[in-house]
Amino acid sequence: MIRINENYLKLKSSYLFSEIAKRVSSFQQSNPDSKIIRMGIGDVTEPLPQSIIKAFHHGVDEMADRATFKGYGPEQGYDFLREKIAHYDYAFRGARISHDEIFISDGAKCDTGNIQELFATDITVAIPDPVYPVYVDTNVMAGRTGENKNGRYENLIYLECTAENNFVPELPKERVDLIYLCFPNNPTGATITKEQLKKWVDFARETKAIILYDAAYEAFIRDEDLPHSIFEIEGAREVAIEFRSYSKTAGFTGTRCAFTVIPRECMAYDSNGNKHSLHAMWNRRHTTKFNGVSYPVQKAAEAIYSPEGQREVKAIIDHYLDNAKIIREKMTSYGYNCTGGENSPYIWVDVKMDSWKFFDMLLNKCQVVCTPGEGFGKCGEGFIRISAFNSRENVINAMERIAKL
Ligand code: MLT
Repeated sequence: MIRINENYLKLKSSYLFSEIAKRVSSFQQSNPDSKIIRMGIGDVTEPLPQSIIKAFHHGVDEMADRATFKGYGPEQGYDFLREKIAHYDYAFRGARISHDEIFISDGAKCDTGNIQELFATDITVAIPDPVYPVYVDTNVMAGRTGENKNGRYENLIYLECTAENNFVPELPKERVDLIYLCFPNNPTGATITKEQLKKWVDFARETKAIILYDAAYEAFIRDEDLPHSIFEIEGAREVAIEFRSYSKTAGFTGTRCAFTVIPRECMAYDSNGNKHSLHAMWNRRHTTKFNGVSYPVQKAAEAIYSPEGQREVKAIIDHYLDNAKIIREKMTSYGYNCTGGENSPYIWVDVKMDSWKFFDMLLNKCQVVCTPGEGFGKCGEGFIRISAFNSRENVINAMERIAKL
């Protein structure tokens, strides 16, 4: 008799954004004429900029010519892209990362979800609360947790992020092996300073833990003092893995391209205490389970680093940041306390009521979709997340509708 992985039975029946999509679609069916404004999932709305599209087309044309046609590419990504990343995303900011420490992939969701395969199933995992649900769910699937009791899984260490700590978690009191951090944060929009991040790096070095650092929203940082990468922090090469994505940076949510950085010094241990290279292990996994991102997509991603690409991408991010400013100012003027929306496309709004009830009210009364904070964890209860990924017109309309609440 074929049997299932029973860890799946511990999960909520549907993934957060699927549940939201289900509720929105059922509302739309019953109200076919209503014009819904979607500010729930962080999905980009602005088209790919010209320089990127040009490079994308050129890559497609090369595939149509015998002389330039490409079959399987390197699983880790083409050097033309990895070298640009090493230079512009890291060396430029004083972080030492070589091109062969970079693994190109089809998304940070997949990479942050898959990376836990490298670690033992009986390690202790520390996860912020609220948090991007992929980190939790993939550890549940792998069997690292017990049951979900009152909104929390047994055996996980929750790092509470609240207004009291400005949504930056304190170091755990207990021993942990794997630590997830995400800054600028999804969902709260909070940021971390270099001094705060250094404490985490030092903690991981002292305790032989690993930090999984999700920097998918780093392109939204405008404050010069904030770190864009954990590798700007001394010692991080030994204890950190970083995830980046072009989804929110350059409008690639539908195009798919991202990357993961694992320095060669980054080590984990076997049961006898022997060190093993996580770079080598991820390379083994990546080459076994992944055949690379398509050539035209990598050519499109490379164009982001051209002077024209940089200008165009910055203009799009500025557009979303201006949206975020409008949302934050309006929601504050309606009497809500807000975090994020600066150096981040997300605004975390304290609605002081059941977050799914607020979600339903916003959908029914204003035809505006947000993300209920409870979907990100217990500490998200009483909050909603509003995404700034939208047209200016939609943002202004949504704020006018909410004003009438
Ligand atoms: C979000 O809304 O949190 C993100 O868009 C989800 C994702 O990047 O997978």
